[in-house]
Order: sequence, then C-alpha cells, then structure tokens
Amino acid sequence: MCGIIGYVGGRNARDIVLEGLKLLEYRGYDSAGIALVEDSLAVYKTAGRVRELNMLPKSDAHTAIGHTRWATHGRPTAANAHPHLSFDGKIAVVHNGVIENFAVLREELAAKGITLLSDTDSEVIAHMLALENCDMTEAVRRVGERLKGAATFLAVKEGEDKIYIRRFGASMAVSVGEGEGFCASDVLALSPHSDRAIVLGDGEYGVLSASGLDLFKDGRRIKKQPILIRCSPPKDCACHMSAELEELPEALQRTYDSFKNFHIPSELAGAKRILLVGCGTAYHACLYGKLVLERETGARCEAVVASEFEPDANEGDLAIFVTQSGETADTLSALHSCKRQGIPTLAITNVAGSSAALEADSSFLLEAGAEIAVAATKSYCCQLLALYLLAKKRAGHAVEQSEISEVKRAAREALDAVAYEERLMNSKLFFIGKGQDYITAREGALKLREITYRQADAYPAGELKHGTIALMDEGAAAIVVATEERAKCRLVATVEELRARGAYTLAVSCVGEIGADKHILLPRMREEALAPIISVLPLQYLALTASLTLGLDPDKPRNLAKSVTVI
Ligand code: G6P
Repeated sequence: MCGIIGYVGGRNARDIVLEGLKLLEYRGYDSAGIALVEDSLAVYKTAGRVRELNMLPKSDAHTAIGHTRWATHGRPTAANAHPHLSFDGKIAVVHNGVIENFAVLREELAAKGITLLSDTDSEVIAHMLALENCDMTEAVRRVGERLKGAATFLAVKEGEDKIYIRRFGASMAVSVGEGEGFCASDVLALSPHSDRAIVLGDGEYGVLSASGLDLFKDGRRIKKQPILIRCSPPKDCACHMSAELEELPEALQRTYDSFKNFHIPSELAGAKRILLVGCGTAYHACLYGKLVLERETGARCEAVVASEFEPDANEGDLAIFVTQSGETADTLSALHSCKRQGIPTLAITNVAGSSAALEADSSFLLEAGAEIAVAATKSYCCQLLALYLLAKKRAGHAVEQSEISEVKRAAREALDAVAYEERLMNSKLFFIGKGQDYITAREGALKLREITYRQADAYPAGELKHGTIALMDEGAAAIVVATEERAKCRLVATVEELRARGAYTLAVSCVGEIGADKHILLPRMREEALAPIISVLPLQYLALTASLTLGLDPDKPRNLAKSVTVI
C-alpha cells in the first residue's frame, strides 16, 4: 500500500525514480509524485497514475524520492499526493503507513503557527523534521520516536545529495552500488539495479549517499548484511494478469523445485493443531491448506482470516502464514501475536526478504515469479501446491515429478478453456461447489468482484436449499465446480435443482458431465486434491475476460492494492 523509492548517485535521479515508481505502482495507484534535489527542492505531484509524471521537465538532479499512493487520509488529489514539503520548503518527505497520532501532531503544529496544506497524516513528518534544530539523521530518530503506528519514510533536504530513511511498520530495502544508492518499499523495484539488498528492520534509520549507507538503531550505528534478491523485474506487457496466468506451468515447477530444498520445521511433524492465517486470496489458500492437511495427516487445523485472528496458544500449536507479498499488515500483525505467545511460525510467501519471510521462524519461498497484477492468480495456484506438498511431506509421502508434470499439462489445457459468456455477466451470478470445490467457488467469486466490480457470491452446493435458492430464476446463472468423484451425485442434484428454477448452469468439471447447460471439461486428475490448482483457472480467466470486455484495467482495479500494508 503506497510505494516509496529513492535514488542518489551519478546517474539521472529523475529517470531512475520514475522507472522505479512504475514497478511499485501495484502497491497503490491513485496519485503519485516526485521530489528532486536541484538548486532548491523541486516537487511534482499528480492525482493520476505514475505515467502522468513523465510530463515533468527534464532534470539533472542526482538525488530524488518518489511515491505512488493508495489513499488512507485524504482523497486522492494532487495536494494530498506525496512528497510533502516542510513549511520552509527545505525538506521533502514520502511516507508509507498510517500515523495513528497524527491528529495530536497536527494540533501541535497548528499551535506553532504551521498550516498544513493537505489532509494527509504524512505531511506532519516534513514539518516536524524542519522544526528539529539538529543534524538530520538525529532529527529522523527524534521525529520517528514521536510517530505512532506505521511510519516508514524517506526525506531529502535542500542542498544535500542524501536520502534520509526510516523504517517502522512498512517494508524498506536498500541497495548500495558503486557511487550510488537505491532505496524502495520492496526488492522488486531494486531488482533492475542490483541482485542484493539490505532489508531494514523496524526502528532502523539512516542516511544513504553516493558513498554508501550509514545505518542506526536507538542512536547506535549498526551493520547489516545484504540478502540475495531472488526476483527479476517483469517484462513490459499490455496485461500482467494474462501474462501471469500463462506463466503458471513454469511457476508450478519452480514451487516444486523450491520445496525439494526446503527443510520442514520440526514443529510441523509434532504439531497437534495447525493454524493457517491469510487475507483475501491467500485466505482461500489457507482454507485449502486446512482441508488437505486434515485429510492427509489427520492433524487438527483451523483457517483464520488474519484480521480476525486472536490466538489462544496451546501446547503443540504451529501457525502457517500464507501471503504472496509477505507484507500484508493484517497477516504480519497475526504473525507478531503468535510470536509473542511463543507459537512456532512458518511463512509461505513469494517474496524473498519480505517481512513475513524474515520474521517467521521459518519460511518457504514459492518462487512463482513476480506477480504484478493486483488480483492474485499464479501465486494462488502455487500456494495450493505448496500446501499440498507440505501435507504430503508430513504424511510421509513423496510427491514425484510425474505428478507435477501431470498438473502442468492439465493447467495448460485449463488455460485454453473459455468460460466467458455474455449471458453470465448479464445474470445474477453464483459460484457453487462442495468440499474443495467450494473453496474454488469462493476464489472465483472474489476474482470477479475484484476486477469487474460485479456482485458475485459463492455457496456450498448443499446449502443453497436453505435460503439462497429463493434467488434462482431465469435471471440467474450458476457456475458449478466439480472435481471430486465422491461429491458428483450431490452436484448433479444441485444442477438439476437450479435448472428446474430456470437458472442457467455452467459446470467446470474434472469428473465428466454433471447435467449442466454447458460443460467445461478438464482433465481428470490422478490425485483429486491437486484439481483445485486446475479448476480455478477458467474462473480466473472468466474474471479477466469480463474485466477487459467491460473496458476496465484488470491489473489495477479501483480501490485495491496488491500489498495492503495498513490494518
Ligand atoms: C490484497 C489484494 C488481494 C490479496 C490480499 C492478500 O487484499 O487485493 O488480492 O489476496 O491482499 O495479499 P498477500 O500478499 O498477503 O497474499
């Protein structure tokens, strides 16, 4: 949520920061801005997307900071866009997070005669820094200590080729090169320039210049080793969601290969209760994880939406956190409460060096490749595979390459299946399933809501008759997912009941025809538990096609962001 980036060094800072902002745009895209250290500070802001900043004049500044926003405080206007300037115009700040005590801080500034020009919580940082009568690094420490909540920020000062950095509650990584330095909210934005990054921890702050990074914590200088950045910038393409779906077979292979080198935490083997925690799509992966771990291992499992998580620690608990970005604030907050209660933690994430990867006791890297489209697709399928592999491993069964090859082949076929039909979009739309297919139905409905803004809900097949069937008539359509032989009879009956009331039915099935008006027949999987990786694909494509048909941007749906770093 919000992406911030800075560059200092011999190259053109304007161009590097603008390029970097494009890579960060998936974190928020309702407004953007840049500050250049020229003779004085030059600040350009727009209420539009990063591309609007291309209009700004050429500059030979060697230092710049930039911001792409997902509004929390204040509407997405140019005035509320970052960077924010201090009252004397000598300091510019970009911020990621939410300052919880900003109302008090605004009042304090007002009492000193400082008028704020925006409705944001972030602007206070610039004024507070300017009021500190000391060295800037010390000012960053002092101001940082007064901010409550998440406050990761970058600051530049007139006349200085330096970037002041502070991390708290939202991620920040730094790469130091020969005579130059880069800092950004995530390693993806650093990846075009370096394969190494220093990931800052909460409370760390410092100053980045062409000669390197000076890092501090609690007033003391600290040294940190860089980690390897295991991602490369995505290729330019018209639609990232489509490219990411197409890449799925290779992504699944990478997840499988990554698992071969993964040392399963010893706590998993003995865990009496496994908690699975995530948000959005990752929560759906948790629901699948619960199902497959219980079926394969008999372990007691609970899947919990991260924002609703309140752990009651028991002997033998293990908590698994599923998060593509590794930076979702709700998920991290749940992780922190588990750590406080002494529950062993495992993160399943796609981003090396992310907060979840670094803070959990152990972590498994999906290696799905960078996912830029806000709506998760390939990362979801790779999360399902990772949880399946984990369940099999705990049950003592090896998963052979031949099984993965079968999934990859089936994925290829499923990617070619066309689920989109105009009439689906003109109807009240329902996604139906049973067991593992109900999870897929939920994910299909979420995908449609996310990128088409259309209402769509998912229901367990057997539950329809307890209320929702009242909505079924000629104006209704149901997508029924069927991948388990044992649930087939139930689903055949459900389809019959729906059709009897005039609803149009489309089946996505790995178990042959189930009496629907139309069938998308997918390969029958040897291992039915792997079928959700395949059956979700036509639903993801349906949402994508619908979004494009409606003239929307599936990569950047309104009001959403890829990485939600606020609670
Ligand atoms: C946001 C995105 C969702 C995503 C969720 C969890 O809400 O809009 O698409 O599923 O975050 O993200 P994570 O990075 O934790 O998997």
